[in-house]
Amino acid sequence: MARVKRLSSEVRDKIAAGEVILRPVSVVKELIENSIDARAKRIEIEITNGGKTKILVNDDGIGMNREDAVLSVERYTTSKIEGIDDIERIKTLGFRGEALASIASVSRFELETSDGEIGTRLEVDAGRVIGIFESQRPRGTRIKVMNLFYNLPARLKFLKSDEWELRLIADTVKSYVLINPMINFHLSSRSRVLINTSATDDYKKRIRQIFPRSLVEHLIDFTETVGSIKISGFISEPGFFEKSKLKFIYVNSRPVRYPRIFRTIRDAFDNPMVSPSFFICITVPPEFIDVNIHPAKEEIKFKDERYIMDLLGQILKKKFTRHSIKVSESPVEFVTSDFAEKSRGFIQESMISNQISQPVRSFDDASEFWQLHNTYIFAQTKSGFVIIDQHVAHERILYEAIMKGKGQSQRLLFPITLELSLEEYRVYKKTRKFLKELGLDFKEFSSRTIVIDALPGDFQVNRQEIVDIFRELDGLGNLIKEKAEIAKVVACKGAIKAGQKLKPLEMMNLIDQLFACENPYTCPHGRPIILKFTLDELGHRFGRI
Ligand SMILES: Nc1ncnc2c1ncn2[C@@H]1O[C@H](COP(=O)(O)OP(=O)(O)OP(=O)(O)O)[C@@H](O)[C@H]1O
Ligand SMILES: [Mg+2]
Repeated sequence: MARVKRLSSEVRDKIAAGEVILRPVSVVKELIENSIDARAKRIEIEITNGGKTKILVNDDGIGMNREDAVLSVERYTTSKIEGIDDIERIKTLGFRGEALASIASVSRFELETSDGEIGTRLEVDAGRVIGIFESQRPRGTRIKVMNLFYNLPARLKFLKSDEWELRLIADTVKSYVLINPMINFHLSSRSRVLINTSATDDYKKRIRQIFPRSLVEHLIDFTETVGSIKISGFISEPGFFEKSKLKFIYVNSRPVRYPRIFRTIRDAFDNPMVSPSFFICITVPPEFIDVNIHPAKEEIKFKDERYIMDLLGQILKKKFTRHSIKVSESPVEFVTSDFAEKSRGFIQESMISNQISQPVRSFDDASEFWQLHNTYIFAQTKSGFVIIDQHVAHERILYEAIMKGKGQSQRLLFPITLELSLEEYRVYKKTRKFLKELGLDFKEFSSRTIVIDALPGDFQVNRQEIVDIFRELDGLGNLIKEKAEIAKVVACKGAIKAGQKLKPLEMMNLIDQLFACENPYTCPHGRPIILKFTLDELGHRFGRI
């Protein structure tokens, strides 16, 4: 690897700036990325108290010489890019030259490294180098991060329980474990070993090392190469239903959050009742993507996003179609099972097999709707019937309207006065700008009293629910900066409730708006909105066909 150098101000200005280290998992992620970039074959991670008191990452990678080690803890120093053009062609996980400096500035930090010759140990306290020593160690790097955020009490306060933080760490480590099957990973917390893998050249074998066999057996694989783009991975069989955390997307071996890819997978899967398990790797030439859009490097953007999404959708659909044909060629359980068995499996099977591939509705008459228990809307369709959960349907409508910035406010005849607690007021101050954009209008009085005199037209909230909105926003922690997370809370509270009587026209209106949504099938929290039943199915169940 090239030597560590300081980036010019021209390059620095181009790099997505922002908070890099928000909680222990951010440290673990950055250190693992560095070890992978250093071509380690074994990475050991030790965690104490959810990473709050100690995080230790040890690797057998290429290490650093003394000079590089000293530079590496300064800001904007990296061996991974040099000039401005390199930002367009990033091949490594790191590139900003920021991670070590950010970590070292909020902890007691120790770096021990060797390039196979002389070893170096560096001690840094809250960003200040307090000692540089010679050390004996084999090639590789060991970083110890003690008392994270000890000099930033505000950030420390935001951390959750040790178990919670450890779970976040384990999930993140898993994402790197899966995509690097040739690297041995070992994750432990005190004496508990959470992950211990052995090297393999097979992704499926690696998945099996940390996920249950019952899931792995139901994964179907796919690989497709189109020009310089390769899309490969595994996805659960369409009929397989098991809640799992195998939901990983990689672009050029980088774990990423990419909501549009999620949507493409779900649409291809075509079954809103089941959330598939998947492990998807997209490999493209580095210049096809922009990695430099998120300060924590968790998101990337395809320059031609539409093309990649179309391609992914087509590949998955093709795979599913082939797979379903294969399944129906085998003896069908339905024919052999007895009537009682069939009836017992009715709901379960319908949930799995009812695929809503097209908008289901062609309702033009409100008399086709009924409300069950003032909670579910029951509607006849050409091929059968659907049941819609009114609360989540409205939640989806509000959520998409908020995300698209379509909230239109209406003046309240009787403004709502709220006296907020200190905490609620703090949250209010943080979110008021955003809430105003949504159509909630406030007037502020002294000593934490606010008056709400306008709400988005469609909202169904009372005073208590507004207070609940502030409380839930407070519970979001750092996520409070994310519009989508705020929108979820506000949409949930503002939506029609279960148990609320609706008139036929209101139902029709709701369904119309639902089907105008981008995703009418699941609520922002992932719950299903619609169950579909066909006449054929009823015919089978009643022994007619
Ligand atoms: N485990 C390691 N083994 C070898 N070299 C390392 C290791 N960790 C860091 N380095 C060196 O230190 C430099 C700085 O690391 P740092 O993580 O701060 O920045 P980066 O990886 O270049 O970019 P980013 O901020 O995006 O992670 C790296 O470019 C690399 O040369
Ligand atoms: Mg790095």
